[in-house]
Amino acid sequence: MSAALSGRYQVVGVDRHPAWGNPQMEQRIEELTRPGVLEEMVSQVRPELVVHCAALTDLDRCERQPEEAREVNALLPGRLARALPRESLMVQISTDAVFGGEGPFFREADAPSPRSIYGRTKLDGEREVAERGGRFLIVRTNFYGWGSGRKKTFAEWLVRVLERGEPATLFDDLFFTPIYVVDFCERLLRLIEEGGLGLVHLAGRDRVSKHEFGRYLAQAGGWPLDPIRPGSLSEAAWTAPRSSELSLDSTRFEQLTGQAVPGCSEGIARFLEDRARTVSHRFHPAVGATR
Ligand SMILES: NC(=O)c1ccc[n+]([C@@H]2O[C@H](COP(=O)([O-])OP(=O)(O)OC[C@H]3O[C@@H](n4cnc5c(N)ncnc54)[C@H](OP(=O)(O)O)[C@@H]3O)[C@@H](O)[C@H]2O)c1
Repeated sequence: MSAALSGRYQVVGVDRHPAWGNPQMEQRIEELTRPGVLEEMVSQVRPELVVHCAALTDLDRCERQPEEAREVNALLPGRLARALPRESLMVQISTDAVFGGEGPFFREADAPSPRSIYGRTKLDGEREVAERGGRFLIVRTNFYGWGSGRKKTFAEWLVRVLERGEPATLFDDLFFTPIYVVDFCERLLRLIEEGGLGLVHLAGRDRVSKHEFGRYLAQAGGWPLDPIRPGSLSEAAWTAPRSSELSLDSTRFEQLTGQAVPGCSEGIARFLEDRARTVSHRFHPAVGATR
């Protein structure tokens, strides 16, 4: 996201690890739950826009450490929202895991029913941000992409096993609407610039199972399909309960921006093409243009 924003804004990136791949960005290493840190940063940086991505994203860890999950996923966004001046726009990145019901293609008006502590605490984080009123944007999604190298992403793991021809079991009863993270960031930037506010779903166009996603990726990369085997959520040895239906409907996003969300094959093709590119070179040139 910092790379997408860098051409248009002066970006200050904050994480508790060194950031990566974007030399145009000023970088700060901070533990965001340290008392006083949000207020300090807000008064120093005076941000026009904050895209809040930090979260405890390991679902099983959230089940084991619910207090930590609550602190980071629910309370931290609320504290940040209250620390910001009213004229700043706060963008809260949220998740399809707030849903646990029937679906498919959940819309913004559908009642959330999270199954996991991750989903519940992220939903509480949304509510904390919404309580601020004024200029906020809550964006629910599910993305994939190349990571920083510090943690292996799901898509990176899958590319690796496909390249090696190793067997991989993927759920054929868990449905989602994945979007390539670069497609997500470009569209989020457009949404911000079109003045979008409130709750918005921004995900891929196609509802696929994890198993179908693996097969699309294998086909696009020219790898054999046989090692990709179907599995069931009911066989997984996880701590956190998972929903089998996570697909999101992005119609409101498309109405607000006039821009379509990409289909699964389109996103995967771009993901594979971007592999050897630096982070900044993955974005469409128009995204980097200064206003
Ligand atoms: N990946 C997806 O498909 C997906 C789907 C839906 C929503 N999201 C949302 O998108 C956002 C980014 O997710 P991601 O997949 O990129 O996850 P990620 O790699 O785990 O990124 C979250 C980052 O926040 C950092 N962080 C956590 N607590 C912090 C704290 N107290 N102070 C400073 N930094 C802290 C994490 O550090 P540690 O690694 O040390 O914890 C990590 O670098 C999250 O809000 C997530 O809920 C992601």
